[in-house]
Amino acid sequence: MLVKSAKFIAAYGKQTEMPEGTLPEIAFIGRSNVGKSSLINMLCGRKDLAKTSGKPGKTQSINRFLINENWFLTDLPGYGYAQVSKTKRATFGQMIEDYFVQQKDLSAVCILIDSRIPPQRIDLEFIHWCGLHDIPFLLVFTKSEKLKQTEMMAVFENYSAALHSVGFEEFPEMFLTSATTSLGKEELLDFFAKEVLKG
Ligand code: GTP
Ligand code: MG
Repeated sequence: MLVKSAKFIAAYGKQTEMPEGTLPEIAFIGRSNVGKSSLINMLCGRKDLAKTSGKPGKTQSINRFLINENWFLTDLPGYGYAQVSKTKRATFGQMIEDYFVQQKDLSAVCILIDSRIPPQRIDLEFIHWCGLHDIPFLLVFTKSEKLKQTEMMAVFENYSAALHSVGFEEFPEMFLTSATTSLGKEELLDFFAKEVLKG
């Protein structure tokens, strides 16, 4: 798929502010600073469509973009940052939970994972949570240009082993990407076109 047009539609403070969706929607989620906004810019071939930052917690609202006039791409705030108190276990935040539970038109969610770090509990919990709620998801590994070739080749296998160890028997689709080198751009966009948006 070629991204011919990409425009910012709106930033919503919570799911209830969002108009009823009339188009398919793909959401981007993952831990703060994993590279969600950067990946959106890379896929759209635009530098500053989604605001990025070196400091975690940049994206604070549900930001919707219209792609090729026929589907929505949605940038979400990160989870696992400033949402964990000592008494409470990590949560994904009410805004994120409401979004996923209510957003019935969601075609898929891309769960972004930093390819350089070992599997984190909060990501495994989120993956599990998507499974429980029947939310279709795929795993997108980020910042992969930082890896050596051998490490790159082991990413999917290592993550599958982690999923297996927490009880998963089927593994989701996985993609290796880099916002810096644009690795994975065509593969991910083609997957969206063929398997997620289907025409
Ligand atoms: P929040 O909105 O705070 O949840 O963060 P985010 O997940 O949207 O991350 P963002 O895109 O703002 O990027 C966070 C940092 O990671 C920035 O300093 C980016 O430049 C950097 N980054 C993102 N993608 C890549 C990548 O592919 N390679 C490298 N080396 N750095 C990246
Ligand atoms: Mg962001």
